[in-house]
Amino acid sequence: MSTTEEPPVDELRVLDPEHWTDGPPLGVFKRLRSECPVHWSSGISEHPDEPGFWSVTKTEHIAAVSKDWRTYSSERGGMLAMPSHFFPLEIQNAMFIGMDPPKHDRLKALFQRGFTPKRTAEHEDAIRAIVRGVLDGLGDRETCDLVTDIAQPCVARVIGSFMGTPPEDDAAWARVINAIVSADDPEVNPEGPAAVMERDIPEVVRRCQALIAERIAEPKDDLTTVLVQAEVDGERLTEHEIVMGFLLLMTAGQDSTKGVFSQGMRAIMEDPEQRQLLLDDPSLAGDAVEEALRMFPAFAHFRRTATADAELGGQQIREGDKVVMWYPSAGREEGVYEEPDRFDLRRGAEHIAFGAGGRHFCLGTALARLELRIMVEETLARFPQIAIDGTPRAAQAVFVNQLTTLPVRLRP
Ligand code: HEM
Repeated sequence: MSTTEEPPVDELRVLDPEHWTDGPPLGVFKRLRSECPVHWSSGISEHPDEPGFWSVTKTEHIAAVSKDWRTYSSERGGMLAMPSHFFPLEIQNAMFIGMDPPKHDRLKALFQRGFTPKRTAEHEDAIRAIVRGVLDGLGDRETCDLVTDIAQPCVARVIGSFMGTPPEDDAAWARVINAIVSADDPEVNPEGPAAVMERDIPEVVRRCQALIAERIAEPKDDLTTVLVQAEVDGERLTEHEIVMGFLLLMTAGQDSTKGVFSQGMRAIMEDPEQRQLLLDDPSLAGDAVEEALRMFPAFAHFRRTATADAELGGQQIREGDKVVMWYPSAGREEGVYEEPDRFDLRRGAEHIAFGAGGRHFCLGTALARLELRIMVEETLARFPQIAIDGTPRAAQAVFVNQLTTLPVRLRP
């Protein structure tokens, strides 16, 4: 039901910045689910020349889009709702997340062997050692920032170890990736998007090229070597494709887990009962992770472009239309989840944080689950009384669902 101050639902424009002041606009999504679950926004105030787009807010319809790559292409218009300076379409199309089958499937298959639950589980001890090392590094500090002092260094080293980058480069990589995914956030990027374009992107490319040259000369047991040696239809990848594959894994692998961990820990710290459950039975950490994924999926959206006219949720989609799937909305769906806005690690609920099936289902699912579980287990084991000690801040971004800061007191 709309109140008198709210515009009629057809006039609502989901991406207008006024809705995004504190993370994804859960109130707007709630209204759309109830009044118009497949909803047309006529555009976005900041980009008057951009065409409108469909918002898909329920699991059922997100699954229909995700599973039908022929009608809903990742390649034709890329994965983002709005054009990005940093990820123009040609760059997205050089990553397999921005390709359609058959090329998508051939490239993804190269990596799938390295990311199965079994192969991933072999990294458990190494990941635990990384997380413990980061917590050790806090020494006897009484306070810290959960995002920048715990989450960031853990996730950067885990994905860095998979990719084969040295630990001393972690902070630089993290800075560049944060700058790219939150390019419009003045706090993350005080110098503005131009600096990202002129300084940070070339830095990433330079670092990548150096690493690629090293792996060509001397292959190692890491994912950069997989990229360097990959052959699709008998042909090696071009350097551009290798750099883009590297960037995809590096970005998808760190920003995502950082966001889910930080927001999940925030919910645990805000609810003494949930925290006590975990302290009494640390084997529930995996359940806490699933609940965090449901409520705080790492990506606010992925986009498709219709390749043909289609019907979705009673709406007529036209060929060429943008179709945007909102994951934070799906996790809060009334009727699917009881009291959807309450964090309850016992609910054992399914969610679509990693995608709703289909070809682009997240490659890093097993790694993300393992890494998140270990981070929750180790952080609570080390700091059972950890408490929020300041105001968290959501990144100003419509693609990633992320906190930039969460001050905590580690000990009472
Ligand atoms: C909490 C953590 C994570 C979440 C919630 C998440 C979510 C997602 C989602 C929703 C997609 C689907 C994109 C689409 O439909 O277009 C995706 C794709 C992908 N994710 Fe993740 N992800 C996470 C962690 C990771 C990690 C750790 C990696 C590690 C390398 C990773 C690598 C990828 C890749 C390569 C794709 C593209 C797959 C494809 O196009 O076939 N993700 N992820």
